[in-house]
Parts: sequence; structure tokens; C-alpha cells
Amino acid sequence: METMIRLGLLLLPIAGGTAVAGQNNTPAEMMACPGGATLTTECMTEAQYDELLAAVRGHLESLPETCTASNCPQADWAGCVLRMAGHDFMDFANGQGGSDACTDMSDPDNGGLPACLSSGEHGISLVEVYQNYCATVSLADFLVIAAEAVMMSTRARHLAQASSAPALDLKSSFRFGRTTALSCAFAEGRLPNPERGCTAVEETFVDSMGLTWTEAAALMAVHTLGRAQVSNSGYHGWWSDPENSRRFNNDYFVSLLAKGWVPERAISGNAAKNQWERSDVGRDTSFDGHEMMLNTDMCLVYSEPGPDGGPVLADVHDCCGWLTAQTIAGAVASNGGEYCGGQPPEPRQERQRCCGPQQGDCGRRDDPRGPAAQAVLNFAADETAWLEAFTRAWTKAVENGQTNLKSLGDCSAAPTSSTFTSGSPSNTATTSAEPDVSDTATTSTTPDAVTTQSTSGETHVQDKVSSFGVASFQHAKQDTLAIQGVTQDWYTANMSPATAGLATSLFRRLGLAQSAPADLSLNVLETHCGDALAASELLPLPCVASYTACDFSEGMLSCAEERLGGRGKCVVGDSTALPFESASFDRYVSNLGCCCTSDLTAKLSEARRVLKPGGLAAMSMRIAEQEGDTSFALTARTLKPFGYPPQPDREGLRIGLDLELLRERLRAAGFEDVSAWRSWVSVPLQTLDDFMQWNLGQPPVRKFLDGLNEEQREQALAALRGAAVKPLAEGAVQIGVAVVSGRAGSAP
Ligand code: HEM
Repeated sequence: METMIRLGLLLLPIAGGTAVAGQNNTPAEMMACPGGATLTTECMTEAQYDELLAAVRGHLESLPETCTASNCPQADWAGCVLRMAGHDFMDFANGQGGSDACTDMSDPDNGGLPACLSSGEHGISLVEVYQNYCATVSLADFLVIAAEAVMMSTRARHLAQASSAPALDLKSSFRFGRTTALSCAFAEGRLPNPERGCTAVEETFVDSMGLTWTEAAALMAVHTLGRAQVSNSGYHGWWSDPENSRRFNNDYFVSLLAKGWVPERAISGNAAKNQWERSDVGRDTSFDGHEMMLNTDMCLVYSEPGPDGGPVLADVHDCCGWLTAQTIAGAVASNGGEYCGGQPPEPRQERQRCCGPQQGDCGRRDDPRGPAAQAVLNFAADETAWLEAFTRAWTKAVENGQTNLKSLGDCSAAPTSSTFTSGSPSNTATTSAEPDVSDTATTSTTPDAVTTQSTSGETHVQDKVSSFGVASFQHAKQDTLAIQGVTQDWYTANMSPATAGLATSLFRRLGLAQSAPADLSLNVLETHCGDALAASELLPLPCVASYTACDFSEGMLSCAEERLGGRGKCVVGDSTALPFESASFDRYVSNLGCCCTSDLTAKLSEARRVLKPGGLAAMSMRIAEQEGDTSFALTARTLKPFGYPPQPDREGLRIGLDLELLRERLRAAGFEDVSAWRSWVSVPLQTLDDFMQWNLGQPPVRKFLDGLNEEQREQALAALRGAAVKPLAEGAVQIGVAVVSGRAGSAP
């Protein structure tokens, strides 16, 4: 497949560099973007940053919770994503490189990274998220945000256990506007070689990236997450115990200090790979539970034997890296009082406890002299100090080499857009130099947006269940499930703004953007359109000849009509029996419309029928029981002991749990090039009051509570308040969703 960049109206093949078209040498070539990826993000609001963060977090947290020495999927995936961002920015030197999404993926030092980027680690990869945003967010910005998302997620996991620990705030310092580089031949050989210890740390972090030694040490705590695998790097083991390897905390420093370390040479028989292994009595002697440090970690604290020695190297020095309990009192306290695998013994027994038979100390046991020793001692004792230094270091690292970065929401200037197309269907490839208005059209999911749009106060009689399990409005002909008391304003004020971002991403996935060629002249149908918020903010688009909004609810359609103001046609209709001729549309969108339909097969075959052959569809559906869902599923679980009615057992509410089955159902309906993935919709909330309003705003919940006696109602409300811990720690309720796309085949 030819690789192109598009600059204004010019279409240029990539020349030079290590990027060879079709060989996937750079992340940009691996992360295919169906409609063409923008090279520079022109605008990003706080809400859009939050949405991206939630989408990556959702992906990570969709992996099983299991974490043993042999299997800890969330640690692996988080580690890979964070390492990718690190490898991206560690090639910065002399004004070149940095967080530009470019690194030579054929370099053995990048071994293992393609898995979480695109080929799938534990079955998921970043490209599945990126494809929803690639039209407007540069890969360079996306890789930084993805790394921030895994750090935030794994920090939240830590905070759930250590509630008084300080929070991590990377959003305040985040700035967007990085440009994706499509080739970076200069990066070859720039990644630090662990064997070279602090010489490599100094060259990369201090000399090239401009960090202080304290900041370099703070940054190295990223190694708390994930592990080393022989198949990737030649090294083997965890920097910490497996459970801590999926928590973003200061355990890296605690590990360095409160455990003993001895050289381990020729890992897996490879003389070029030498590391340090844990030597104290608390070590796990199994292959899977192996703990290790690299020279580049150890040298921060420990020195070669003898007075005032240089940094330690595993293949050169025979010594044990350890410190007396008194010297590292702060680290021992952070380690729950544990020192070299147990309670601190008599001082004269400490060495034996930490080092076993290994002779010689790596430097002074009570006065470590490594170039960042004091910082490591401080960070092991004080997480606040570490997080402050880390945030400083991270911000420098991800901003090196970038000019024109802007704070979230600063969307004033609109530079000329350029896009990059690689490895994916390109009938929607873009050529426009115009800014994409869809950048500003994404619905805000800030608390403000959720609370300010309630205007109608109108109450309707319901006779249908919408995608969120709440009833929709009058005049439905099928799917009847009588739940009374749903107000239209609740939907427009809460669900619609929270989910419009997902709807926008479906439109974008179908190439419906300002930058798409105007001569495409597409007829677009949206079913389950609700109030058509996303479409009303996207339209008009040069590539769209007509837009038809269809819903079974006249109430919602009248909202849609008002919002669209003549930019689309509103038609009452059931998505399982659409009132349209066959082959009358080029694009079909249905946001959260598959979940509660009574007949998923009919819905899918109707979608195929009304599309012309070759037309594209994108649909999403809620997943009622997705692990980690803190929205409807949490409410239902919490109220179940009080008799809260179960969700209607609809296939569409569960099918997202089995993506292969979902893909199969689309193929059976006549779609080709089918893809399906899981994601999350976040509804931000900051206070307990927000959380209660979220719950009470759901008419079935309110109605159910109204039916309880006073005592039961108080208990049920107390239970709901008790369920707020996770959503509040995350600052949002998370709605698990599945997304699917496909191309209509020739035979309906
Ligand atoms: C002197 C600098 C560094 C050296 C020598 C180094 C070296 C390594 C090595 C050898 C591995 C094992 C990879 C594998 O086998 O999968 C690794 C893993 C990792 N590195 Fe680094 N690294 C450095 C800096 C960084 C930075 C700056 C970051 C991120 C900001 C980072 C993040 C990670 C993460 C998260 C892992 C775990 C990967 C996983 O679990 O898949 N490293 N590093």
C-alpha cells in the first residue's frame, strides 16, 4: 500500500528516512487511519482530552483483573503503552526527535511495542481507540495522552487501596499540538543501552533531554509498571512485585532500596545482557516471579566497590547493592515496615538477610553515592515529592522538540491541516487545507454541559426502551416495554451530551468530516438518532448531500428537528423495519441503538438493505455487564438486593462481550471488512451529589425508589451513596460500549 502525506492540496509520497512504505517501520504506519490521519492537532478541549483519556483507560481496564506472577494482563498492556511514549521521546537530541510518534520500529530495542500499538497484546491495541480520533488528533499527541491514561488508571488503582496517597495530575500541564513525524532516520541508535548504566542515563536524560539528575530519577519510576521479557529486550523480570507492577506508585524506589541486589550475568545465555537480581530472603525464586534491576536503575544509587567508586555495572562488578535499615528508614516505612523480605533484624544480621553469600558492597552501605541517591531516598519516603518531580520531568520530556504547543481549549489559531493515509480503506481520504469544524463539534462531557441543557421540563408517556434502558417516547410501534415516567429533558441534558462524542467518532469513522472531498456527495442515514446532537454540530459538511435522522420517538425527533434547523430530514421509523427504499444510502450510523432492540438480526439486515453496495456502516451499543462499568450496571447491582428490576434480556446488551460473535453477526447480515472493538463513554462527575443526581436522573431508578417504603428507600439511597467510591475516584461514571463498522457487500 502506498504511503502518502497530504499537505494542503498536494499529495506527496514519503521519501527518505527509515520509513519504507508498506513495511510498518514507524508507529504511524502501524496505526492505520481509515480517513487519513491529521499530522498536527489543531484544537483540543479539556472535554476532548478527558474523552481520549477515558477511551484508553477503558481499553486497559477491559482486560481481566487477574494479576499473578505468570499472568498480569493490565500490567503488560499499561507497561507497553507507557514504554512506547518513552521510546518516542528518548530519541530527542540537538533539537531533533522527541514526542513526534516516530521511532524506528525495526530497532530491536523496540521489541514488543507493536503488540499494544496494533497487532494486539492480550487481544487489544491502541489503534482501535486511535481510529476514532485520528482525523483530528495527531498520533504524536495521542501517544502522550495514551501514556498519561495508563498512568492515571494505574494510579487510580493504587489510590483505591491507599486513599490518603497524593493524586496524579497530568492534565493541568498537558499541551497539544505535537506534529507526527513520518520518518526519523536520525533516531537510529539513540535509545539508551541499559548495559552502559549511568553513562547512558546522563547522555539521554541530562545532556540531551535537559533533565536534572533528580528529574531523571523521578522519570525512571515508570519502570514500576510492566516488566522485561527476554523475547522483547533480552532482559527478564519485574522491577517490583507483580501487583505493584500495575500500580503507578513509588514502589520502584522502594524496591531499589529496601531489597538486596546482586549481579545476574548472561541472561538466557546472552552475554550482552546483564542485569541485577533480587538477593534478599524475601525474593520469589520462581522463573515468573523473578525481580530485577538494570544497570541504568542501580547506578542511580549504588557505586562500584571501594571508596568513591563510579556507577555499578552488573557484568563488571561483584558486589551486593543494599543499604542499612537505618539509612533507608523512609523506604522501609513506605514498604509496610518490610526490609529485605521481613522485619529489620539486628544490624549485624542485615547484610546476610539482604545479600546472602555475595561478597562486597556496592558502595557505602550507609551513605549511597550514586548520582541520584538522595533523590531516590527522598522519593521512596515521600510520594508527593516524587509526583511533583515526575510531573516536571514528564512535561519536559514530552515537550522537548515541540514548538507551538497550546493549552487545552486554546483553539484560536487554525493552522493548515495535513493528513496522512496508511494501510486502510481510503475512499474517504482527505485533501482539504481547511480546519475541520468537527474538532469543535464534539459534544462536551464536562459537568457543566451535563447540567446546563435541561430546558423542557416536559414529561412524556413512554412505551419503549432506548439504548440506555430508559424509556423513550410516544408513538413507537414495536419493542414495547412499558416504563413510565421518563422525561425527555433527562435524556437531552444527561445522556445526549455524554454520548455525542461517541456518535461524532462514528461519523468520523465513516469519513464524514469537513476535510473529506466535497465531490463525494453522500446520503447519510442515522437511526436511533435521539436529538441528533452530534449531527447537528457536524453539519453541514461538503461531502454530505443529504442527512436523514430516524428515530421511533416523535418526541426525540422534534428535538432533532429543532437542533438541525433544516440541515436534515427527520423521519419516524423503527430500525428493524426501516421506511426507506433498498440501496438508498451511502453511510449508516447508529449510536447506541443496537443495545435494546428486540431483534438484532433484523436491525443489522435493515442496515445492510438500505445501504448501497460498498456503503459504510458504524454502530455502537452499550454492554450491560462490561467489567469495570460504573454506570447502569453499578446502579442495577447496588439496587438489586432491594428488588430493582433486571434489565430486559436483550441480545444487543450482551453481544459486545463477544466481539467475534458480533463480527460474525455483521458478516451474516451482508457486511464485509468488519471490525469490532470495545470502548467507554464517560460521564464526568465530581461530587457525591453529582453521582446521586446521575442515579436519580434515571427515571426507572427514580420510579423504583418512589415505590419503596421510607425505610427501604433510605437504605437504598445509602447503598447508592456507598457505591460512589469508584466513580468519584475516577471523576466519572464509565459506560462500557462496543463499536462495530463494516462495508455493505454486493449481496444484501
Ligand atoms: C535509561 C533509560 C531506559 C532504559 C535503559 C530502559 C530499558 C528498558 C528495558 C530493557 C525494558 C524491558 C522491555 C521488555 O523486555 O519488554 C524496559 C521496559 C519498560 N520501560 Fe524502559 N528504559 C528506559 C527508560 C524508560 C522511559 C523514559 C520510559 C517511559 C517513560 C520507560 C518505560 C518502560 C516501561 C513502562 C517498561 C515495561 C514494558 C512492558 O511491561 O511491556 N522506560 N525499559
